[in-house]
Amino acid sequence: PLIKYIDHSGGEYEADVDVGKTVMDGAMDNMIDGILAECGGCCSCATCHVYVDEKFIPVTGTADGMEKEMLTAVNEPKDNSRLSCQIFVTEEMDGMTVRIPESQY
Ligand code: FES
Repeated sequence: PLIKYIDHSGGEYEADVDVGKTVMDGAMDNMIDGILAECGGCCSCATCHVYVDEKFIPVTGTADGMEKEMLTAVNEPKDNSRLSCQIFVTEEMDGMTVRIPESQY
Protein backbone atom coordinates (compact mmCIF):
# COMPACT_ATOMS: atom_id res chain seq x y z
CA PRO A 1 0.00 0.00 0.00
CA LEU A 2 1.16 3.51 -0.83
CA ILE A 3 1.34 5.87 2.10
CA LYS A 4 1.95 9.56 1.61
CA TYR A 5 3.88 11.50 4.24
CA ILE A 6 3.64 15.28 4.29
CA ASP A 7 6.09 17.21 6.42
CA HIS A 8 5.40 20.49 8.19
CA SER A 9 6.78 22.54 5.32
CA GLY A 10 4.58 20.78 2.75
CA GLY A 11 7.16 18.35 1.39
CA GLU A 12 5.43 15.20 0.15
CA TYR A 13 6.97 11.73 0.14
CA GLU A 14 5.36 8.51 -1.00
CA ALA A 15 6.35 5.13 0.29
CA ASP A 16 5.16 1.66 -0.63
CA VAL A 17 4.90 0.05 2.78
CA ASP A 18 4.42 -3.69 3.20
CA VAL A 19 1.28 -4.94 4.90
CA GLY A 20 2.08 -5.69 8.53
CA LYS A 21 4.75 -3.03 8.81
CA THR A 22 3.96 0.16 10.63
CA VAL A 23 3.57 3.67 9.28
CA MET A 24 6.69 4.47 11.32
CA ASP A 25 8.64 1.65 9.59
CA GLY A 26 7.61 3.09 6.23
CA ALA A 27 9.13 6.45 7.11
CA MET A 28 12.32 4.89 8.50
CA ASP A 29 12.83 2.51 5.57
CA ASN A 30 12.45 5.36 3.10
CA MET A 31 14.49 7.92 5.01
CA ILE A 32 11.60 10.30 5.42
CA ASP A 33 12.56 12.89 8.00
CA GLY A 34 10.48 14.13 10.87
CA ILE A 35 9.59 10.86 12.54
CA LEU A 36 12.29 10.15 15.08
CA ALA A 37 11.04 6.89 16.59
CA GLU A 38 13.63 6.91 19.32
CA CYS A 39 12.25 3.86 21.10
CA GLY A 40 12.21 1.81 17.90
CA GLY A 41 8.48 1.24 17.93
CA CYS A 42 7.62 0.06 21.40
CA CYS A 43 5.19 2.88 22.18
CA SER A 44 7.36 4.49 24.83
CA CYS A 45 8.95 7.59 23.26
CA ALA A 46 6.11 9.43 21.45
CA THR A 47 8.58 10.77 18.86
CA CYS A 48 6.75 9.11 15.99
CA HIS A 49 3.69 11.36 16.22
CA VAL A 50 1.65 11.92 13.05
CA TYR A 51 -1.75 13.29 12.09
CA VAL A 52 -3.85 10.77 10.20
CA ASP A 53 -6.02 11.77 7.24
CA GLU A 54 -9.51 11.95 8.81
CA LYS A 55 -10.97 9.83 5.98
CA PHE A 56 -8.81 6.92 7.05
CA ILE A 57 -9.55 6.97 10.74
CA PRO A 58 -12.22 4.28 10.31
CA VAL A 59 -9.46 2.11 8.81
CA THR A 60 -6.63 2.91 11.22
CA GLY A 61 -8.81 2.99 14.30
CA THR A 62 -7.99 5.33 17.13
CA ALA A 63 -5.42 5.32 19.90
CA ASP A 64 -6.21 3.58 23.12
CA GLY A 65 -4.47 2.36 26.24
CA MET A 66 -0.77 3.12 26.40
CA GLU A 67 -0.74 4.99 23.09
CA LYS A 68 -3.54 7.29 24.20
CA GLU A 69 -1.64 8.07 27.35
CA MET A 70 1.58 8.78 25.43
CA LEU A 71 -0.29 11.11 23.09
CA THR A 72 -1.14 13.43 25.95
CA ALA A 73 2.58 14.28 26.09
CA VAL A 74 3.17 15.18 22.43
CA ASN A 75 3.61 18.67 21.06
CA GLU A 76 0.28 19.94 19.62
CA PRO A 77 -1.96 16.91 20.00
CA LYS A 78 -5.07 16.86 17.81
CA ASP A 79 -8.08 14.59 17.47
CA ASN A 80 -6.36 12.75 14.62
CA SER A 81 -3.03 12.33 16.40
CA ARG A 82 -1.49 8.86 16.41
CA LEU A 83 1.83 7.28 17.18
CA SER A 84 2.88 5.96 13.79
CA CYS A 85 4.57 2.88 15.27
CA GLN A 86 1.13 1.75 16.41
CA ILE A 87 -0.49 1.91 12.98
CA PHE A 88 -0.02 -1.44 11.27
CA VAL A 89 -0.44 -1.10 7.53
CA THR A 90 -3.26 -2.96 5.79
CA GLU A 91 -4.36 -2.99 2.12
CA GLU A 92 -7.20 -0.63 3.05
CA MET A 93 -4.65 2.06 3.90
CA ASP A 94 -3.54 2.39 0.28
CA GLY A 95 -3.53 6.10 -0.56
CA MET A 96 -3.56 7.27 3.03
CA THR A 97 -1.88 10.55 3.92
CA VAL A 98 -0.20 11.24 7.24
CA ARG A 99 1.11 14.64 8.24
CA ILE A 100 4.27 14.96 10.26
CA PRO A 101 4.25 17.63 12.96
CA GLU A 102 6.86 20.38 12.99
CA SER A 103 8.49 18.98 16.09
CA GLN A 104 8.38 15.66 17.94
CA TYR A 105 9.05 17.39 21.27
FE1 FES B 1 8.53 5.30 20.07
FE2 FES B 1 6.48 5.13 18.38
S1 FES B 1 8.57 4.83 17.96
S2 FES B 1 6.44 5.55 20.49
